[in-house]
Amino acid sequence: MLSDVIDLLACPHCGADLDTEDGAVLCDRGHTFDVARQGYVSLLPGSAGKITGDSAEMLAARVRFLDGHHFDPIVDAVVSAVGKCGSILEVGAGTGHYLAAVLEHTGGRGIGVDVSKAAARRIARAHPRVGAVVADVWHGLPVRSGALDTVTCVFSPRNAGELHRVLAPRGTLVVVTPTERHQRELIGPLGLIGVDEDKARRLGDTLSGRFESVTKSVLEFPMLLTHADARNLVEMGPSARHTTDAARDTAIGDLPDRVEVTASVTVGIYRAV
Ligand SMILES: C[S@@+](CC[C@H](N)C(=O)[O-])C[C@H]1O[C@@H](n2cnc3c(N)ncnc32)[C@H](O)[C@@H]1O
Ligand SMILES: [Zn+2]
Repeated sequence: MLSDVIDLLACPHCGADLDTEDGAVLCDRGHTFDVARQGYVSLLPGSAGKITGDSAEMLAARVRFLDGHHFDPIVDAVVSAVGKCGSILEVGAGTGHYLAAVLEHTGGRGIGVDVSKAAARRIARAHPRVGAVVADVWHGLPVRSGALDTVTCVFSPRNAGELHRVLAPRGTLVVVTPTERHQRELIGPLGLIGVDEDKARRLGDTLSGRFESVTKSVLEFPMLLTHADARNLVEMGPSARHTTDAARDTAIGDLPDRVEVTASVTVGIYRAV
């Protein structure tokens, strides 16, 4: 619940501490924010950009795919990378699937931030010790400086300066990014958007100076997917916006009934310096 993490949050307008009162979040200086009936709070400042994040349909497809356990090895890798920690933030938390698994394991409390309201609704009910917040990581995180033990970014955008600011000294950052081999068997046939090969280098560039690398490993494993799984994969990602339904259905119909698809991600653990 929000009240579990309210002491970690900061007003997006003035940076002051926040508190909860009568279904609202308010700061010492009088800024107030409504708590949605689904339990999340939007801490987007009025000047926030127009990024709306993943749609309700994309999130529903992501839930269906994650419920099929195809990414469980990635969930396990994130849980073990985090280890023991008291307070954690997941940026771009989506359905809250990874954050819930981490909290279950660590016993800690967590903030799930996403710019999508549909995501925040799901994050709010993902785990009893999670507080769900709508915020745009590029605009700034409504979180007190140095408040967190750990931050995780799983397939989500990273703003290195903000991630560093909210972490305690020597705090841990866990980053999961796809490699260019991720889902490679489906990229051509289904017109999925491939991974930019330059991404790993750019990630290193943005983190350097603020974080030191602790470990970096590639996790790669095969998934056996049905047509329904393949459809969920398309619908949960940005490719859904680029392909027509008819073209996608034809391409999925042309796949073998069970198609072996590679999952390939880099799991990086960094320490704030
Ligand atoms: C590829 S999804 C990953 C979701 C989740 N981490 C997972 O792996 O299941 C990326 C998420 O980042 C969110 N997102 C995109 N831009 C964002 C931003 N500027 N600030 C916060 N979240 C953002 C999207 O709404 C989406 O939920
Ligand atoms: Zn304020």
